[in-house]
Amino acid sequence: MREDRKKAFRNALGNFATGVTIVTTRDGDGRPVGLTASSFNSVSLDPPMVLWSLALDSPNMAAFRQAGGWAVHILSADQEELSNRFATRGIDKFAG
Ligand SMILES: Cc1cc2nc3c(=O)[nH]c(=O)nc-3n(C[C@H](O)[C@H](O)[C@H](O)COP(=O)(O)O)c2cc1C
Repeated sequence: MREDRKKAFRNALGNFATGVTIVTTRDGDGRPVGLTASSFNSVSLDPPMVLWSLALDSPNMAAFRQAGGWAVHILSADQEELSNRFATRGIDKFAG
């Protein structure tokens, strides 16, 4: 997609306010993995169901597929630093 269209698309999507979460689990070696996700949503009360979407090229795809469960951490407005950290690839997101 052309750069100006990418920017326009991003700006359009930015007009829709959503909550921001960090979704975490552990990989097969027990290491914590996680990422910032705004795709989290409620689906049903009975049965209790929620959903979120993971990019197909995420390096964490295998970890989430094999995990027996995962946690959704709902961020508050003053947790932007955490949101940015868990949206950054290739760093140790859990350092500190
Ligand atoms: C506000 C915000 C919301 C995001 N929502 C999602 C999401 O719902 N699903 C997703 O796969 N990536 C989402 N991302 C992008 C990931 O957080 C980002 O690509 C992160 O580096 C993925 O971690 P990973 O590469 O270790 O899997 C979002 C990023 C931001 C800043």
